[in-house]
Amino acid sequence: MEFKGSHILSVSQFTIEDIYTIFKTAEIMEPYASRKKKTKVLEGAVLGNLFFEASTRSRISFGASFNRLGGFVNDTVGFKFSSMAKGESIHDTSRVISGYVDLMVVRHPEKGSVTEFSEASSVPVINGGDGPGEHPTQALLDLYTIYKERDSQLNNLNNLRICLVGDLKYGRTIHSLVKILSLFKNITYIFVAPEQLQIPEEIAEFLKSKNHLVSKIDNLKEAVSNMDIVYVTRIQEERFEDRQEFLNLQGYFRFNKEVYDNYCRENTIIMHPLPRDSRPESNELDVDLNDIHNLAIFRQTDNGIPIRMAIFALVLDVVNKVSQYGTDVQWYTPKR
Ligand code: CP
Repeated sequence: MEFKGSHILSVSQFTIEDIYTIFKTAEIMEPYASRKKKTKVLEGAVLGNLFFEASTRSRISFGASFNRLGGFVNDTVGFKFSSMAKGESIHDTSRVISGYVDLMVVRHPEKGSVTEFSEASSVPVINGGDGPGEHPTQALLDLYTIYKERDSQLNNLNNLRICLVGDLKYGRTIHSLVKILSLFKNITYIFVAPEQLQIPEEIAEFLKSKNHLVSKIDNLKEAVSNMDIVYVTRIQEERFEDRQEFLNLQGYFRFNKEVYDNYCRENTIIMHPLPRDSRPESNELDVDLNDIHNLAIFRQTDNGIPIRMAIFALVLDVVNKVSQYGTDVQWYTPKR
């Protein structure tokens, strides 16, 4: 794809070659992401970071990534403090803000809403999560994590065996990740969820049409054996219209050290897009796994910075100028 000036709305936009370009760009960004170097390549550029739904990682890492490239970030958080609370449409909101900024990141609770933003915007729009729809940059950072865990070789993403656990119906990170993985060869997907939260049938059919192996199961211990990746997700309370339905499913699966030690093979990587729901009634990914090296959840969050820097640099067409405007940092940075 042509990245320059493009909206980033869905993983369906990407080919394997695009993923290669993004990962190679993310590798260029690594010293800036880990504060070994700084660059002013986006000095003077303004990001509109519009989050109309709760977020910690995506909002802050999009903002920090733009800052690391030398740009300025303008944040809006929640409907309450935007004029959409007065009935302003997505069209008008987007048209107005696109006159103020160079690029927008938007998170919104309704599926399809970020595409609506892009249709009225004169600047590129990046989907930071549209309800139960998609979260393309999360899928890229998840895939980049798997790539790094597997010797940074794109070929090592072929023949992957991945088990996806939890809220597969509403989980936009799942929808984006399984679609982007389908670009590779011979993927085995095992979807582990209660029937009410299983992967939408159209997604399962799409994966099968690409010649991948798909199974649905609701037994966690049976599913996790012989997997390369176990990707756990939170049951998304905020998506349920009937709270009792959520309460009936809360804590349905709990992936913990006992399950890992007794049912997973030794080198299985554990992932989660976070936030994990650490309330005792939920606890889908137990803190007793925190000391296990194969728990990759904080490597995932760290990888959000180089990936989002790469997307900004590609869309604003500055990849080749990053080092020209770069210098070493003068302040203390921890070794990683
Ligand atoms: N993974 C993710 O999107 O986290 P936040 O909701 O905190 O942004």
